[in-house]
Amino acid sequence: MNKTLRKPAIAGNWKMNNTPQQTTALIEELKPLVKDATCDVIVCVPYIDLHAALAATKGSNVMVGAENCHWAESGAFTGEISAAMLKDIGVPYVIVGHSERRQYFGETDLTVRDRTRAALNAGLKVILCVGELKEQRLENITAEVVRMQTKLALKDVLESELDNIIIAYEPVWAIGTGLTATPEQANEVCAIIRDLVAELYGKTAADKMVVQYGGSMNEKNADELLGQPDIDGGLIGGASLVAAKFAAIVAAASK
Ligand code: 13P
Repeated sequence: MNKTLRKPAIAGNWKMNNTPQQTTALIEELKPLVKDATCDVIVCVPYIDLHAALAATKGSNVMVGAENCHWAESGAFTGEISAAMLKDIGVPYVIVGHSERRQYFGETDLTVRDRTRAALNAGLKVILCVGELKEQRLENITAEVVRMQTKLALKDVLESELDNIIIAYEPVWAIGTGLTATPEQANEVCAIIRDLVAELYGKTAADKMVVQYGGSMNEKNADELLGQPDIDGGLIGGASLVAAKFAAIVAAASK
């Protein structure tokens, strides 16, 4: 497997944190720290912060993402935001299928598939999240769970669209808990995802697929995680809220 075929991507997922004003301040602090990155640098922010994030990142190498989008083009979905709306204001990325959406907001593999389709249709790049629960890992069904989630999400995705997809492996038990998958555990599942992409689309597509790890990645463990052969970047929660920590992870991915 040739890792040089893939450009690593470090994405922050701010979750429900930061006002527009705080967004501007954090991005202004971050920009000089990551300006020489050789990986992609993305910050995914709450909807209400998108305008501030787009303005603050203008002319820099930091790209902006939303944390979700709806599956319909438009219509009677009170409180929701469509992929076309995100595209229209100039947002390039969107996270789909985050485990917190699955856990707290009724997201299913089928709605993840539909949201992925809608995002691609609108011309967005998707960070597609998959990952097992603690109980599922203890039952030794991690591979089955992650394969199923990934396969269903990619069901309507053409090979020609894979350049617009990043897959983020986020074991649910490692999110916000301080528990990190060991580099070997994380790599093993990222490799399982890559093997599935090879099964579905062929080896060339799999070699090009960017597969991130997420779950308590920080400035201390990033080096070792990102050094694994099948881990091409990270989706970072808590540590992405501190410019110096996020920048240290970006630096680790830029080596
Ligand atoms: P933490 O880095 O806070 O564990 O969050 C990971 C995550 O959910 C990123 O999407």
